[in-house]
Amino acid sequence: MYAWLLKPLLFLLSPERAHHLAMAALKLLGRMPGVRSWLERRLARRDPALKVRALGMELDSPVGLAAGLDKNAEAFHGLGALGFGFVEVGTLTPKPQPGAARPRLFRLPLDRALLNRMGFNNCGVDAAAARLAAPRDVIVGANVGKNRTTPNEAAADDYVAATRAVAAHVAYLVVNVSSPNTPALRALQATAELRPLLTAVRDALTAAVPGRRVPLLVKISPDLSDAELDAIADLVLELGLEGIIATNTTLSRAGLRTPSERVEACGDGGLSGAPLAERAFEVLRRLRERVEDRVTLVSVGGIEDAEDVWLRLSAGATLVQIYTALIYEGPGLVGRINAELAERARASGYERLVDAVRASRRRA
Ligand code: FNR
Repeated sequence: MYAWLLKPLLFLLSPERAHHLAMAALKLLGRMPGVRSWLERRLARRDPALKVRALGMELDSPVGLAAGLDKNAEAFHGLGALGFGFVEVGTLTPKPQPGAARPRLFRLPLDRALLNRMGFNNCGVDAAAARLAAPRDVIVGANVGKNRTTPNEAAADDYVAATRAVAAHVAYLVVNVSSPNTPALRALQATAELRPLLTAVRDALTAAVPGRRVPLLVKISPDLSDAELDAIADLVLELGLEGIIATNTTLSRAGLRTPSERVEACGDGGLSGAPLAERAFEVLRRLRERVEDRVTLVSVGGIEDAEDVWLRLSAGATLVQIYTALIYEGPGLVGRINAELAERARASGYERLVDAVRASRRRA
């Protein structure tokens, strides 16, 4: 129904209007337990074969929702019912902020891509924390950032404040230093900046939730050089972080099918979806080689189907995330991926996907 009815209707609207409409629907559905469980039964296609241990938890599926769709932690109940094993909310900043001027979100259908310069529009971490404090049956992580008006020299204060506000209510926390839409944010990826920042956030997490170690991950850009990737991987090991999320959107416009005038007319912003897949894959492989099996890698960027998920897991990701393909393929996508992954595990003679993946890694 998404392909022949909902998508054509939604794609008549501006991308941001369509986004708000879809989110409003998910928010509403998520609030009605009967409807939510109906949705879950119809769409999620959960299967015991998909269970995976990661970041000290057991997840129902290795496929999660990437940050940026549920920025304000309003729709994670409904999103969980689509079959995601985990949902990442945010990016949340200490103070609410409107983000960039509109239009700031563009579809590039020829490339199955999106271009955005949202600029961390969000309700502020306190409002989100209040919603996250309520009980739920979906695993939720929070992605935090700094306010646009906070200079980089004071960035650590923002990350620490946002961390303190949500720490007790989330399964894991992500330091986002890779959005291209907050001026100079990506400069925080340099290890001289990143070491004190991550150290401060780790300390804040430990102090905020004394009885439980909240896993801490850093989300990085696909536009880093190999040397920069290696340096971040080494830092993550040195500081004992639990994981790396790779990658955020790219500034590159290479290899697009969309005519360049149309791409240029969109203006600045980060590109996501199919054109990002190859680079996200390369980054995953490089990180896995560097950290071996000492850190959880979450691969994101251009994942569109079960085959893509399988390839990322086989290349060393423990978990994956999706955003753009959900816009193009609709709410049934995650369930279809779940069903195909479970089938694939059984077809290769294993009860569990993780064992099938491990065997394929050994063969590689
Ligand atoms: C994003 N992404 C993102 N990431 C993040 O860490 N914080 C954020 O607030 C956002 N916001 C955001 C908005 C929009 C409109 C898009 C399309 C993307 C990046 C996202 O989480 C993901 O890393 C990339 O989109 C790559 O994955 P896909 O979309 O190719 O599956």
